[in-house]
Amino acid sequence: MHTTPNAVQTGSPQGMSSRRVFVIGATGTIGQATVRALLQRGHQVVCFVRPRAGVRGALAADVSRQLLQGATVRFGAVTDPAALARDGFCGEHFDVLVSCLASRTGAPKDAWAVDHQAHVHALEAARAAGVTQVVLLSAICVQKPLLAFQHAKLAFEKYLIESGLTYSIVRPTAFFKSLSGQIERVRRGKPFLLFGDGRLTACKPISDRDLGAYLADCLDQPERQNRILPIGGPGPAITSREQGDKLFALLGRSPKFSHVPVALLDVIIALLGTLGRLIPTLADKAELARIGRYYATESMLVLNPQTGQYDADATPSTGTETLFDFYADLASGKVATERGDHAVF
Ligand SMILES: NC(=O)c1ccc[n+]([C@@H]2O[C@H](COP(=O)([O-])OP(=O)(O)OC[C@H]3O[C@@H](n4cnc5c(N)ncnc54)[C@H](OP(=O)(O)O)[C@@H]3O)[C@@H](O)[C@H]2O)c1
Repeated sequence: MHTTPNAVQTGSPQGMSSRRVFVIGATGTIGQATVRALLQRGHQVVCFVRPRAGVRGALAADVSRQLLQGATVRFGAVTDPAALARDGFCGEHFDVLVSCLASRTGAPKDAWAVDHQAHVHALEAARAAGVTQVVLLSAICVQKPLLAFQHAKLAFEKYLIESGLTYSIVRPTAFFKSLSGQIERVRRGKPFLLFGDGRLTACKPISDRDLGAYLADCLDQPERQNRILPIGGPGPAITSREQGDKLFALLGRSPKFSHVPVALLDVIIALLGTLGRLIPTLADKAELARIGRYYATESMLVLNPQTGQYDADATPSTGTETLFDFYADLASGKVATERGDHAVF
């Protein structure tokens, strides 16, 4: 078991110890779930968040405090090393840094500032505060890096591995929110949009709660330490076509699909890329289209480097919650989902 000078025994059946955990990216989808999981495991959690957090700054400070109830919430700029030390770590000792921080847009400048540089600053501030262990939420897609945000994430993964700190780099497959964007279209009687025949890609979706639990358990499970951990949810890999079929069945509608050729995305990318040389905001839109194309053509599964093929069987699973149960809850109005800045549909 990994212990630190101020570890507190909780007396839990597993003999796990309570640690002082500094969390960045706590207001995000997986950040919130991870904070809940850390608190359930008896850790002392301090979250460092923006004064206005959430998608387009929708969360005021008191809302963030409420969302992260049970944790201490401190406010400041994670991108500023002085603010991290002064307003975040506050000269106190911490044991673990957990990061669910990620650029909300995926635009190159934002990605390098957040997915790489802010993480470097946070790691160094954490090390100065006594942290010996880091749990990083990354993404499975960095195994085939074609996009700016993937390169930024990989650069920090490398920095973390070389830091000498104990690390867990968690690379999950697709989140439920990213696979739920079309429910409103379908509800309104519109067709479900598919790239190609809808069977170009597959993923093993993972729920927020299952991923939060997986990340929190990295603190105490040596087999999850000093490793890169690809991880999916329970059950078989699912294609876009299967997602559409399920949504129609749950909403009691006959299936209706529209097929979008991938070549159309190539035309959009080329057009925005050219115009983006003159108008910077269009360059960001071109990157958004590249991100869309990536997810339209690459599976969120472990890539076999020998064959260059994605391999569902080689993609580990965790948890109990399935995408189709989540769709049923969405269809019945039991839950709602927040889409985020780079939603494609
Ligand atoms: N979506 C998927 O299907 C999927 C699949 C696999 C892996 N992933 C990866 O999982 C990670 C997290 O995903 P998520 O959906 O939980 O992210 P999210 O909901 O977009 O949350 C991002 C977090 O980072 C914070 N953040 C972003 N820019 C910031 C800045 N400039 N300053 C301070 N904080 C900033 C956000 O704070 P605010 O609330 O203040 O904005 C928020 O707490 C990403 O790395 C993503 O690549 C995603």
